[in-house]
Formats: sequence, structure tokens, C-alpha cells
Amino acid sequence: MTTLVDRYRDRLPLAAGDRVVSLGEGSTPLLHADFLSRELGIDVWLKLESANPTGSFKDRGMTVAVSRALAEGARAVVCASTGNTAASAAAYAARAGMTAAILLPQGAVALGKLAQARAAGARLLEVRGSFDQALRGAQALAASGGLTLVNSLNPDRIEGQKTAAFEIVEELGRAPDVLALPYGGGGNTRAYARGFAEWDAGMPRVLAGAAARRGETLASAIRIVDPAHRAEAEAAVRDSGGTVVALTDDEIVAAWRSLAEREGVFCEPASAAGLAALQKLGASGTAVVVVTGHGLKDPDAVSRTAAPVVEVDADPDSIAAGLA
Ligand code: F0G
Repeated sequence: MTTLVDRYRDRLPLAAGDRVVSLGEGSTPLLHADFLSRELGIDVWLKLESANPTGSFKDRGMTVAVSRALAEGARAVVCASTGNTAASAAAYAARAGMTAAILLPQGAVALGKLAQARAAGARLLEVRGSFDQALRGAQALAASGGLTLVNSLNPDRIEGQKTAAFEIVEELGRAPDVLALPYGGGGNTRAYARGFAEWDAGMPRVLAGAAARRGETLASAIRIVDPAHRAEAEAAVRDSGGTVVALTDDEIVAAWRSLAEREGVFCEPASAAGLAALQKLGASGTAVVVVTGHGLKDPDAVSRTAAPVVEVDADPDSIAAGLA
């Protein structure tokens, strides 16, 4: 197995002797999207970050952040999370033999993510408040000492996540003309911008899809009112000639359905925000759409939007009637 750190060690902040805490992250598929390419009249590729070990792009950053925390002698990590950072931190901390303390916004974390963090034995605290409030709590806890913050405010997270841009350039042979991705706190947008800049292969125009109603969107992963990286992420988008695209939930759900129903790619709703941005604005040339997290993380989202299951008896007539 080639870990992410093996593949790009010379561009990552880890010393030769450091133990690498890995679950086999990175080297994710870049899938050509035939239907979407025809629909949009451009060449569309999907970067399936949902194929990372815990089902989201967070693993790229977590392998670096947890390995570094271990090298520095930390015994515990802390994060606030809408769910995916929690699942990733819990898994990498478990593998490192560290404790993970995780602050979740009450009632706002999808079922699968919660199950992942619980299964790994993380210490889960449900904060009576929003993600933004939970993040301030996590920062305060980290500042009091002893725990390493593994939200993307930890620069090691961004370092790890920039490697997705490297993979895209290596696989396409050049940077795409357009990169479309979801924009929650903005850490991942910064990470891609850094990755393309460091590889020196040119910067794609970045379309960053954000929920128009940030505090209320059904895309719970990006239910973030005050993005921690707003200034840097939006500057990077502007410098690329791109745009932050404000999306309604209907637009996000339409993109999410087209990924599942037309391309066979089942992601969680927030992960379709990049495609929604591309569908809304259009583009020319080659576009890479980042699919950030797996659909199994949020089964309730399916119940809310997909066709119901039909109940039948086990006889041919009943089955035929059920299919009619
Ligand atoms: N897509 C998914 C599936 C996410 O979980 C997140 C963020 C984003 C996109 C947005 O990325 O914040 O770097 O702009 N999830 C965080 C979490 C907030 O706690 O798991 P961003």
C-alpha cells in the first residue's frame, strides 16, 4: 500500500523518522462523468474523495495532522465537527492510540458519521448550539493545553488536503480549466488552491458552491454560518477568476440526484454542491468536480428525497403490479 504521505512526503511537513498514522488514504479515483459531460457540453471528471477510508476528504488532512500530533507527543486530539471531521479524527486517533474529544452541534450530525465516531470509541460531546459555537469551544479547549486541535485551522490538515490537487494534475497531465467543490468553512478551497499553486501547473477557475442559507441548509456537512477560512478561501477563488456560488437546497438536491441517478455516484448532499455550482454557472473546457463525502453517511437524506420502497407479496402478480 502506498500511503498519501509516501506518495508526497517531500511536499508534506513530516520528518523522515516520524511514524505515519495511515488508513490508506488518497489516490482516489478520477472518474469521467459521461452523462454530465453530455449535459453540460464540457468534459467533466469526478474526483471521488468519498473513496477515502472513512468516506471523506478529511482523511488526507487527518493522516498528516494526527501523525504530527503524535510526533509532538500529544496524547489527545480535539475537533468540532458537522460529522466528517469527527469520523476521520476518531478513526486516526484510534489507530494512533490517542483519545479523540469531539464536539458536535446538537441534532445536526448525520447518522452514519455519528456511528463512525462512536464505533471508534471517541469521546463525543453534543454541544447545545451550532457548529460555529462548537468550534469556539474546541479552540478554547486546545488553547488550554494537552490536546491538539485537528480542525482545518490546524495547518497540517490543509497540507494533507492539498495533495488532491497534485493527484488531479498528475492524472489529467495538466490542471483542469475549472475546479468545482463545496464551500463550508473554506479549508478545502484553500487546500486545493495551495496544491495547484505548489505544483505550478496553472490554477483552474474555482467554483465554490456554498449554501445560500448557510445556517439552515439540508446539506448538514456545510451548515456553517461563519467560515473560519472565509478571507483566504474567497481571495483564492477571486484570484483564480472563479466565483463563490450561493445555492438553494433544491439546486443541491438536484445535483445530488443527478450524481446518483445518472452517474451511479452516491454522495451525501453537501458533496454535490460543487456540481450544483457548475450546473448553475456553466463552464468551458475540462472541469473537475470534487465529490467530498460518501452517501452512506447520511441515509436520512435519501428518505427525504428519493422514491419510496414499494411493498409487495412474494408472488409474480404482486411483484409485477409493484413494478408497474
Ligand atoms: N463536504 C463535506 C462532505 C464536508 O464534510 C465538508 C466540511 C465540506 C464539504 C466543506 O469543506 O469546510 O473545508 O469548506 N465538513 C466539516 C466537518 C465542517 O466537520 O466535517 P470546508
